[in-house]
Amino acid sequence: METISSPADLRNRTLAALRAGKTIGFVPTMGALHAGHASLIRRARAENDLLVVSIFVNPAQFGPAEDLDRYPRDIPRDTALCEREKVDLLFLPRVEDVYPPGFDTFVAPGRAAEGLCGASRPNHFRGVATVVLKFFSVVRPTRAYFGEKDYQQIAVIRRMARDLDLDAEIVPCPTVREADGLAMSSRNAFLSPEERTTATVLFRAVSAMARSRETGERRAAVLREAGGSVLAAEPAFRVEYLEIRDAETLDPIETCDRPAVALLAGRIGGVRLIDNVRLPCD
Ligand code: PAJ
Repeated sequence: METISSPADLRNRTLAALRAGKTIGFVPTMGALHAGHASLIRRARAENDLLVVSIFVNPAQFGPAEDLDRYPRDIPRDTALCEREKVDLLFLPRVEDVYPPGFDTFVAPGRAAEGLCGASRPNHFRGVATVVLKFFSVVRPTRAYFGEKDYQQIAVIRRMARDLDLDAEIVPCPTVREADGLAMSSRNAFLSPEERTTATVLFRAVSAMARSRETGERRAAVLREAGGSVLAAEPAFRVEYLEIRDAETLDPIETCDRPAVALLAGRIGGVRLIDNVRLPCD
């Protein structure tokens, strides 16, 4: 595995690979890698000739009051994981490589970035879309892999890829969970043991909604109640949103007459957590 920090050097490598007819798999991350990231990396390894992973804690996607400074960082451990997973190129740019002095152009995502996480994190998806587009320009991926844990992020990126004529195929990958259902996240490390126990409420709530749907309930308001009553029993979890949306467009729906998704976000102490499950369609 080779580690590269210069975007120009990486671009030379990926252009040479493309000219040689190779496919390029790309997994963008912010590091503190866990089994969720590893599942994306493994899938990308299996499906492409050249595998590029990036680790970059992207300041543009954090709000002023958010956890940029305390976001977990462990480059030696992450590098070892990437070695083990047979990554070819590990892209580790510095902030000034990505946002040099004078940088002043951002991608403005549209409706997909409104509501849900976009409501409490106003410029978050603008920062995500901008860095992903920049990395796509450097990596030129044939396929890029994203986790469904960040469901709205995939919707924003997919829309951007279509609207801006990007070549990359966007590949969604299932959420990897702990044994008790908690979705793996770099931020889980911030939870105290007691908060860690409370955190199972996210998966319990969205699973209750999926079960209610499986038994035939179609009304979004009733399905929402099924999740809401699970949340009400855990006052330490402060709900930010609990919504049912169209699985493709993320438009709000009142009746589940098409594939839908239940999405949940909230806080335990100072830690913000999200989760979602698809609601089956009959
Ligand atoms: P990060 O949170 O590090 O996540 C990197 C990728 O791993 C994302 O596609 C995310 O959805 C996926 N992922 C995280 N937890 C997962 C889990 N439990 N199961 C499956 N996949 C999981 O998402 C970002 O970084 C950034 O916004 C980024 C896209 C890198 C742009 O900065």
